[in-house]
Amino acid sequence: MTAWVKISDVGAHVGETVTVKGWLYARTDKGKLKFLQLRDGSGVIQAVVFKKGVPESAWEAAEQLTQESSVEVTGEIRADDRALGGYELSVTDLTVVALADDGYPIQLKEHGTGFLMAQRHLWIRTPRQTAILRIRATIIKAIRDWLDDHGFTLVDTPILTPAAVEGTSTLFEVDYFGEPGYLTQSGQLYNEANIMALGPVYCFGPTFRAEKSKTRRHLTEFWMVEPEIPFADLEDLMEVEEQFVSYIVQSVLAKHRRELEELLERDLTALEKVEAPFPRLSYDEAATKLRELYDAEEDPEKKALLYLEEDDDFGAPHETALSALYDKPIFVYHYPAAVKAFYMESVEGEPRLSRSVDLLAPEGYGEVIGGGQRTTRVELLEQRIEAHGLPREAYEWYLDLRRYGAVPHSGFGLGVERTVAWICGLPHVRETGAFPRMLEKMYP
Ligand code: 4AD
Ligand code: MG
Repeated sequence: MTAWVKISDVGAHVGETVTVKGWLYARTDKGKLKFLQLRDGSGVIQAVVFKKGVPESAWEAAEQLTQESSVEVTGEIRADDRALGGYELSVTDLTVVALADDGYPIQLKEHGTGFLMAQRHLWIRTPRQTAILRIRATIIKAIRDWLDDHGFTLVDTPILTPAAVEGTSTLFEVDYFGEPGYLTQSGQLYNEANIMALGPVYCFGPTFRAEKSKTRRHLTEFWMVEPEIPFADLEDLMEVEEQFVSYIVQSVLAKHRRELEELLERDLTALEKVEAPFPRLSYDEAATKLRELYDAEEDPEKKALLYLEEDDDFGAPHETALSALYDKPIFVYHYPAAVKAFYMESVEGEPRLSRSVDLLAPEGYGEVIGGGQRTTRVELLEQRIEAHGLPREAYEWYLDLRRYGAVPHSGFGLGVERTVAWICGLPHVRETGAFPRMLEKMYP
């Protein structure tokens, strides 16, 4: 038995005879030679089959090979500068594990996105998609590593919940033994309880929003990491966020330069600039800049998108225009309380404004983090719960957190898919996970 090696590791086996197990990505025949592009998830290698170099049965098997057939190939690893990845495998034996049916749906040509999304279970086998999924895994590891190394304890928050966190219009309702329950929109409220038991905590898991609009940034199921910190105000929070996000971006750059450049054609200089500190603008300053952009815009369609009423929330076009002015992520803080969630602390002496902060990614990507300082005042919460039309009974436990040892505290939520889209330079969040969930799209 020869050693089974991953394609990514063949460089350590030059001159040795090894076995590679994988799938046939492409095949070219030239008389007595066959060139097989094999992939195994870790990489792609060219395996060269010479008729006289293999048993007859292996040659016949190679002749039958259809695209995406699974195979075990044994042979000598040779270094070759001209070869993809720098190595080639001279085949001495080949076994078919399973011959794929003819007519593999994804051909090595351009397909429309609608078609590819319906073939997502197969589309994920292509190199660009595997690169994205690997980078996503690195981003998730960087998130966990940074938080674990900075004194945060991971606490899992429930998926089935009795109440809304981020407004009632995007709740997914489930029948919980005859009572309405909801898929979680955010673990934040539970995090606020957990910090009083454990100090800084984070939750990390899938969250759900019944988003009714089709945009390039909205999924109905997405992963969010939510750190929460006791005895921290908004300024403390921004410092944590900029260290955290810089670490994530630099970790990806350290590990995936080649994939980013070659497979995703990402401009790396833009990512290299992502180092703390990040510029900070108040909502009012940002709104002023947006009104200047509005005044200067000559194209009537673009101008209409930039229109902003007094104290309006920023939409995607506003965030895109604003973040395009900077080459680092930017903080926008102190949004009007009216456009933010019920739990926000208000700015002292300026009840119009909330102690909220969003982090907007550069190059037009827009919001990747939402967060803020939570109010500690029971009366303000009671008023807001009523004003937002939320059922008071469902929040009694949350009000308790203000009754028993309230402290200033702050936290944020970073959306994994938007972060992947930004770092990989993708135009749409639908390619950021293996099986994305979007408006009216749940297959496969
Ligand atoms: O700004 P959001 O709604 O904030 C919260 O949920 C807070 N409770 C978080 C906290 O303070 N603990 O969402 C946070 C982030 C957004 O910035 C975005 O990255 C992502 O979650 N996000 C979505 N990503 C994809 N599809 C959607 N529909 C998203 N909604 C929010
Ligand atoms: Mg938000």
